[in-house]
Amino acid sequence: MRNVLVTGAGSGIGRATAEAFVHAGAAVVAGMRDPATSQPIAGAESITLDVSDDASVALALEGRPAFDVVVNNAGISLSGPVETIAMDLARRQFETNYWGAMRVVRAVLPAMRAKRAGIIINVSTVGGRTPARGYHAFYQGSKHALRALSEALVWELEPFGVRVALVEPGFVATNIFDRGGYEDPPPPSPYSEDEAWVRRFFLAGAAAQAIPASRVAEEIVAVASQERPLLHHPVGADAIAGVAAAQTLSFEDWYESAVARVVSMVGPRPEPAKAGPSD
Ligand SMILES: NC(=O)c1ccc[n+]([C@@H]2O[C@H](COP(=O)([O-])OP(=O)(O)OC[C@H]3O[C@@H](n4cnc5c(N)ncnc54)[C@H](OP(=O)(O)O)[C@@H]3O)[C@@H](O)[C@H]2O)c1
Repeated sequence: MRNVLVTGAGSGIGRATAEAFVHAGAAVVAGMRDPATSQPIAGAESITLDVSDDASVALALEGRPAFDVVVNNAGISLSGPVETIAMDLARRQFETNYWGAMRVVRAVLPAMRAKRAGIIINVSTVGGRTPARGYHAFYQGSKHALRALSEALVWELEPFGVRVALVEPGFVATNIFDRGGYEDPPPPSPYSEDEAWVRRFFLAGAAAQAIPASRVAEEIVAVASQERPLLHHPVGADAIAGVAAAQTLSFEDWYESAVARVVSMVGPRPEPAKAGPSD
């Protein structure tokens, strides 16, 4: 565990992970969209790395010596109805969480493949294993796609000795929901009451069940040192339970239990306002 890259290292899980690797004695490159606006991480090299920007990724990573560990952590969580979410928001979700990870993977792989060593750890979510909740088609869609990318990479990289793992937390105590605007009322739409109800569930779930970011960081550092890591690493009791439910329930049973869980945490589901198709 010598050269480590962590993306989205300015805050939350990324920062905790960069700090944990420094603590473990690694040489850490901490990718941040704007290092000038983030607190430096003692013992790490902070670099400008916007994973949604081809030129930024190329400038930051091409030609660097092989990383032993690459943690694709940068991510955003936005909520919105399929019918009315602004297209640019839906696209931004994939641009960061999916295409961003792919850009980084493509930039780091030539050196890792040549060295025939290393591990790529993609930070997903339990929502990348479970069916999508309402208003999370794009967040969860991006993480389901990240899972497919990771599965394909296991196949493609096995002959080159490069390992791949997914870390899949449940609720983690970070500012991801504030940054995604969950505290605000959703934009007006025929769905806004229902969407607000789901947003309240996420805020309540995070308040009640979140584990510290350092717990996810510990898991990432542990996975990085494993000779033959499994692909999937759910982190936190809610993530482990969520994966088990997704594996055992039909979609219909899962849906019923998921709605019941929201009701139990934030009260009854609102009735849609009576209105015509064009309201
Ligand atoms: N918190 C949870 O409950 C939870 C649960 C499961 C999975 N996750 C996953 O954990 C990862 C980290 O999230 P977090 O909870 O730690 O939230 P966070 O504190 O908001 O951290 C996200 C980080 O990603 C960075 N980022 C966003 N867009 C970027 C881009 N285009 N290029 C580079 N960096 C970018 C942000 O940088 P800026 O500071 O510049 O915005 C920020 O440092 C995400 O992939 C998320 O999906 C979180």
